[in-house]
Parts: sequence; structure tokens; C-alpha cells
Amino acid sequence: MIGDKKVLFSGMQATGNLTLGNYLGALSNWVKLADEYECFYSVVDMHSITVRQDPAELRSRARKLLCLYIAAGLDPEKNCIYYQSHVSGHAELAWILNCFTYMGELSRMTQFKDKSAKHADNINAGLFTYPVLMAADILLYQADVVPVGIDQMQHLELTRDIAQRFNALYGDVFTVPEPYIGKVGAKIMSLQDPAKKMSKSDENPNASIYLMDDPDTIMRKFKRAVTDSLGAVRYNEEEQPGICNLMDIYGACTGKSRQDIESKFEGKGYGDFKTAVGESVVEKLRPLQEKMEDLAKNKDYIDSVIKNNAEKAQYFANKTLRKVQKKVGFPEKIR
Ligand code: TRP
Repeated sequence: MIGDKKVLFSGMQATGNLTLGNYLGALSNWVKLADEYECFYSVVDMHSITVRQDPAELRSRARKLLCLYIAAGLDPEKNCIYYQSHVSGHAELAWILNCFTYMGELSRMTQFKDKSAKHADNINAGLFTYPVLMAADILLYQADVVPVGIDQMQHLELTRDIAQRFNALYGDVFTVPEPYIGKVGAKIMSLQDPAKKMSKSDENPNASIYLMDDPDTIMRKFKRAVTDSLGAVRYNEEEQPGICNLMDIYGACTGKSRQDIESKFEGKGYGDFKTAVGESVVEKLRPLQEKMEDLAKNKDYIDSVIKNNAEKAQYFANKTLRKVQKKVGFPEKIR
């Protein structure tokens, strides 16, 4: 708890471009959370170097991601949006937690298995202990809830195990975090294969709408979206998964219900419908894109957000870190 609010922590990697799926499914729903939770959103640049990165590229992507969160409506006065690498407590706590995590546990992580298969030439120790750094991120802020996708659930489970193990030895040091199960946003699927989730790492650029795509690109991608040969705008999940996905997108962008959409496009062809969906997405993303342009011109403002929020994060991180250091027996600093 911070004040009378529960703490929410989430980390995001600055690799790949955020998609409409990330926005409608997650980000846009986070805006309202700041009233209920003390929210920390960390751009986890330390996690990113577990696979090779181009340094200039990583730096620029990390800044863009941070701006995107602000452009998407997260007020940086109310939400602590900061770079993980600016708060040294993450690395310090991760070291300590490494000593409370077993090789066997880390070997079982499916993401480690996947990534070490994919980067067989660089299976470094950081890739192996990645989940421990993630545990440190979460436990450092005594987070009550963590919004995570299914792919990160195993890491969150491990975080809980580490916290409970530590607490069993030293008393109640860490809050044991829960997955955040709030109102879930629309689940947006690939435009090229409606059986797959829209993903920022999809190799086919036509499968995803990126948040910074220009209007022409957006319209073109919707024109090419996979549909079916039935020719009716109906929410028919079995036979028309592509149309269902387009209806979900249109609904999320306009607030219209499935029924409204069906009657609006009664007797019209897919061409008209796709144009309408594309236009609704262009309009939905316009304010976000304009805000991004604004922020890009406002270097001093962003720099001050980065500085102030790093200090805020540091303050809470240090509180936990000092407690933990004392518990494990590190000598007190002489001030
Ligand atoms: N591992 C997460 C991912 O790849 C990112 C992450 C790092 C994270 N630290 C976190 C997510 C803490 C939630 C909480 O998506």
C-alpha cells in the first residue's frame, strides 16, 4: 500500500512496435487505473539486453515507448513511468533474490527454453536469471497486482514463490503479488490470420496495425484483411472469425454494439465495412499520434518527467531495498 492505494506494477520491453491490439486490449484500459492504484510502469531496458540490441536503437525505442504511454493517456504525474536502468535498486535486489532462487526453477521457465532455442549463440546468464530481475521489479515496489499476459504468468508464479520463501525466512518483508484481473479490453486478432493474436513481433507487417501507422497504411491494411466468402457482416465466430475481429475493432473504436454494427451494415459488402473499420481506427489513433508529435517537440518536458519519476521510483525502491539488506545481514551504511 502507498497511502490508501494498492500498488500496481507493470514492465514493458521497448522491442517491437506497439499494436492496436496492445492499445485496445491493455493500454487504453490502464488510464483509469490510476484512480484506484498507485501505478508504476517501467520501461525495462535492463531486460532487453538479455538479447543483443543495437545501443542507439534501444535508447531511441525506450524513449518512444515512454512517450507512447504518456500519449496514450497515462498522466505521468499520477503514474510513475520510468526507465528500469535509472533505479539501481532493481539490480541490487535482483542479486539478493538470485541467492533465493534455484537453478531448477529457472530451468523450467518456458520463456527461457524458447529464447535459448532462438538465440542459441548467446545463451547468457542474464537470459537465465531474467525472471529473477522481473521478480525484483515487482517486489521492490511491494506491488499488490501485476497486469500480465498469459505468457508471463509463469514468471509471476515464480515471483510469488520467491517472495513467500523470503518471507518464511525473514518475516513479512514482501507483499505477495497477484495477477491483475480487471476489466479486460477487446482481444484483437491478426488481420491476416484471425486465429492468432495481433502481435508486435508478427513477421507479416500487414497482420498488425502499429500505433504510429499513417492513415493510408491503416486503410490499406484493412482492405487486405482476411475475411470469408459469406459476404454478410455477422458475428459468427465459427465461420467468420475475420469479420468478428473487424467487428470487435470497430466496436472498440466507436462504442457500437455487435447488433448496431450488424444492422448498420445489413446488405452492404465487405468493402464498405472494411473502409468504415479503417476510418474508425484512423480517428481513434489520431489524438494519440498528434500527442506523440507534440511530445517529440517537447524535449524538456519529457526530460523532466524522466527525472522526476526516476526519483519517485527510487524513493520507494530504496525503502524496500534497505529493509531487505538489513534482513539478510548486510552492515548498515554509515551516514
Ligand atoms: N517480462 C515482461 C515481458 O516481457 C516484462 C516485464 C519485466 C514485466 N518486468 C516486469 C512485466 C514486471 C510485469 C512486471 O512482457
